[in-house]
Amino acid sequence: MTAKNTQTTTLHINGYTHVLSIEPWISLLDILREHLQLTGTKKGCDHGQCGACTVLVNGKRILSCLALGVMKDGAQITTIEGISNGTELHPVQKAFIEHDAFQCGYCTPGQICSAIGMLNENKAETREEVQELMSGNLCRCGANKGIIDAVMAVKEGGYNE
Ligand code: FES
Ligand code: FES
Repeated sequence: MTAKNTQTTTLHINGYTHVLSIEPWISLLDILREHLQLTGTKKGCDHGQCGACTVLVNGKRILSCLALGVMKDGAQITTIEGISNGTELHPVQKAFIEHDAFQCGYCTPGQICSAIGMLNENKAETREEVQELMSGNLCRCGANKGIIDAVMAVKEGGYNE
């Protein structure tokens, strides 16, 4: 801790290393959006209720509004800006386009990160299980059917990260 009450924290985000001096009470979400201008990750409720802020940390999906940045010192973080492989969209991104899985798009970065994390977990077998495991990501536009269609299409296509 420095005199200014900040803590040096190293975050590896989308393949880039950031060494930051941050206050220990700042959420990972606010670091991404306010310190690093990675505004693809959205703030909805800021209370762990909507899933808009979902990112991948060491391959696992987390709610970045509920995570303190300093707690992720040394972690590998992937946000929506780092999901594609250069100009080649990730299979989940392609499926979202093919299945009309968004309207306003506000929930979409969180939905895509959550879907990738969920597929990595390899726990869901059926459509109902996929629905259940994606239920923490809300869509106020009602694009849920397209979202689940997209995730199922990737899953049934044998996605294996
Ligand atoms: S902004 Fe994090 S869950 Fe809503
Ligand atoms: S597409 Fe608008 S909130 Fe989901």
